[in-house]
Amino acid sequence: MTEPTHKRGLWATRMGFIMAASGSAVGLGNVWKFPYITGQNGGGAFVLVYLICIAVVGLPIMLSEFTLGRKTNLNPVGAFRQLKPGTPWVGIGFTGVLAGFLILSFYGVVGGWTLAYVYKALTHSLDQFANPADAGKFFGGFIANTGEVLFYHALFMGVTIAIVIKGVHAGIEKACDILMPTLVVMLVILMIRALTLDGAMEGLKFYLYPDFSKLSGHSILMAMGQAFFSLSLGMGAMITYGSYLPAKENLTSATLYVVLFDTLIALLMGLVIFPAVFAMGLKPTEGPGLVFSVLPAVFTGMPMGWVVSIIFFVLLAIAALTSAISLLEVVVAYFIDQRGWDRKKAVLTMGLIIFAIGIPSGLSFGVLADFKLFGRHFFDSVDNLTANYLLPIGGMLTAIFVGWVWGTKEAHKEIERHETTFHWAAYWEFVVRYIAPVAVAIVFFAKYFPAK
Ligand code: PHE
Repeated sequence: MTEPTHKRGLWATRMGFIMAASGSAVGLGNVWKFPYITGQNGGGAFVLVYLICIAVVGLPIMLSEFTLGRKTNLNPVGAFRQLKPGTPWVGIGFTGVLAGFLILSFYGVVGGWTLAYVYKALTHSLDQFANPADAGKFFGGFIANTGEVLFYHALFMGVTIAIVIKGVHAGIEKACDILMPTLVVMLVILMIRALTLDGAMEGLKFYLYPDFSKLSGHSILMAMGQAFFSLSLGMGAMITYGSYLPAKENLTSATLYVVLFDTLIALLMGLVIFPAVFAMGLKPTEGPGLVFSVLPAVFTGMPMGWVVSIIFFVLLAIAALTSAISLLEVVVAYFIDQRGWDRKKAVLTMGLIIFAIGIPSGLSFGVLADFKLFGRHFFDSVDNLTANYLLPIGGMLTAIFVGWVWGTKEAHKEIERHETTFHWAAYWEFVVRYIAPVAVAIVFFAKYFPAK
């Protein structure tokens, strides 16, 4: 069943849409994951490969998703159903809604950690570690604490629900309009602080000088997966956000802005982390703990460390929140458009269920640490299923769908519906049909190749 457009929300301004879509893209993927995998994969050369992936996979798929959304004014399931009713392609939409549901279940847990760290920063718990090992132990102790983890998880989901319930314009757009510029200002302050530390240069060199001898085949595959996750692609988040666009919107320039913005934030984040880590004599290869356990050690040794620690964790929480909003919105849009639920019922019901499903993920570092599914604890299982299977498959099929099934000709018509000239049409058609599906297939099968 397809609903008339007027029942659905619309973005009020072009800027509001770009802020919301950038808010979805800029998240833990940029602030937490990008620095630590860059650190683990040798720095500069990895960054270069990541940028190539953004251009040949991220850009075309993002435009495809926006186009599908604006053409149909529907959630992912409705979008595929309207264009090819009764075909298995509708399954891409269902996979997307399921992915949104599952990603948010563990994303909400990490979102809770960020809120907890804002509180801990404010109360001076994060700027007085004697050494990095102590900061790591502190983090380990925190994520194993059932009561604390659940409390902040619930708080984070509560804030997400409160924003999404207000709807597309009054909730999501308004929140992102304020939060995204705040995030940029905080990032710039942090960058200035990091770059003016003694010894910052060594970090810059690691980050910016491409040393190709450090690049393995496996790093290339990781760079591609990261491009996907960071741009919120492969599950219909951008279809959903595109569905609230008025017809006059220029999709190609919106795509360029969002991709540029997301990439810029990730790159700036590197300019914060690596100078700081090197200046404090720490290693960039720490892994997932880089942000939560290495940075507090950095703050401890840094002039103005207390203020910097607060700014950093507020920034991390904002980034997580604007992405969580988009994850919930995908699920909610499905229940509103396809099932005829009202927004309030959809947000409350789904928000609570997603919170409940996230509880075992939240407890995976404490009481449920020994509960394993196929050798992984719950958090890792959900993370792995979504990031390594559902998103790549969804992205590859979306590219194939737009490139070959619905067809670039129809898509092109939609892109130019309102007197927009699509300047890079030839590039887009080529990458969406040939390069993106093949490249993503390689990522997907990556795990069958031996990692270095
Ligand atoms: N892009 C978000 C981040 O970088 C994560 C995300 C993935 C959000 C998929 C929505 C959909 O953290």
